[in-house]
Amino acid sequence: MTTVYLDGAFMPIAEAKVSAMDRGFLFGDGAYEVIPVYSRRPFRLPEHLSRLRHTLDGIRLANPHDDAEWARLVGEIIARNAGEDQSVYLQITRGADTKRNHAFPARVTPTVYIMSEPLVTPPPSQRETGIAAVSAADVRWLRCDLKTTSLLANCLLRQLAVDAGCVETILFRDGFMTEGAASNIFAVKQGVLLAPPKDRFMLPGITYDVVLELAAAHGLPAEVGPVAEATARSADELWMTSSTKEVLPIVRLDGQPVGTGQPGPVFKRMHAWYQEFKQRVMRAGE
Ligand code: PDD
Repeated sequence: MTTVYLDGAFMPIAEAKVSAMDRGFLFGDGAYEVIPVYSRRPFRLPEHLSRLRHTLDGIRLANPHDDAEWARLVGEIIARNAGEDQSVYLQITRGADTKRNHAFPARVTPTVYIMSEPLVTPPPSQRETGIAAVSAADVRWLRCDLKTTSLLANCLLRQLAVDAGCVETILFRDGFMTEGAASNIFAVKQGVLLAPPKDRFMLPGITYDVVLELAAAHGLPAEVGPVAEATARSADELWMTSSTKEVLPIVRLDGQPVGTGQPGPVFKRMHAWYQEFKQRVMRAGE
């Protein structure tokens, strides 16, 4: 049975209940993180907690715990749940008010929730044959660097992909590629890895950092800067990255082949580096 943490106590998930007046429920007023756990070790916990602080600062919500306490709670959740590899989800909402009011309540206790799910990495077939994506205009707000629970736009955008039998929706804003509905997107053109910059138009992905570090470590040329929509659409390769999907090759975009329509040679190298890194570093605890 799944054990979760809610407001100071560990309990079976069926017993975890929050108020209908919680601002997370009423307004999507909250922050979250998804932390992959390999061999029971959370990967890059300090980086996830630093991104969490950035989100909390951005939405003016006081961090209820210091990093040591977060690390203790995450460690407890991992220990209390089965599975060597897990996906730890944590969220903090602004808490429950007595009446519905857009402005923040004067005094409110944040709601803290942590759960663990099995870490399900993509099936090998997706890496071997690649995945299909659709594209859409990035209709989200202008603080996509914040990992907030207000995810309706992301949900609608991801559903466009599912409706089309695809895996991800690649987003374009004002002629530039931003990211995916729930992932970061890289392009490869003439052997150079192209990554959109960490600005307010995309989430600064932890996996994004790993991919750029691996590129640097193995001498793959990489450029971080705005990626024009035309460049993305004519790229030799497109990849999506996230903590749960790792790195996946996108071989079709809007029904058209990306490059040769097969996972590209640069992806294959990156995938091998990523798997080696996972075994050597992630599983050992970094
Ligand atoms: N999403 N961009 C968006 C919009 C995302 O939702 C995610 C991850 C990423 C990749 O970030 P990271 O590499 O740190 O996982 C980029 C998580 C997995 C989710 O919402 O479930």
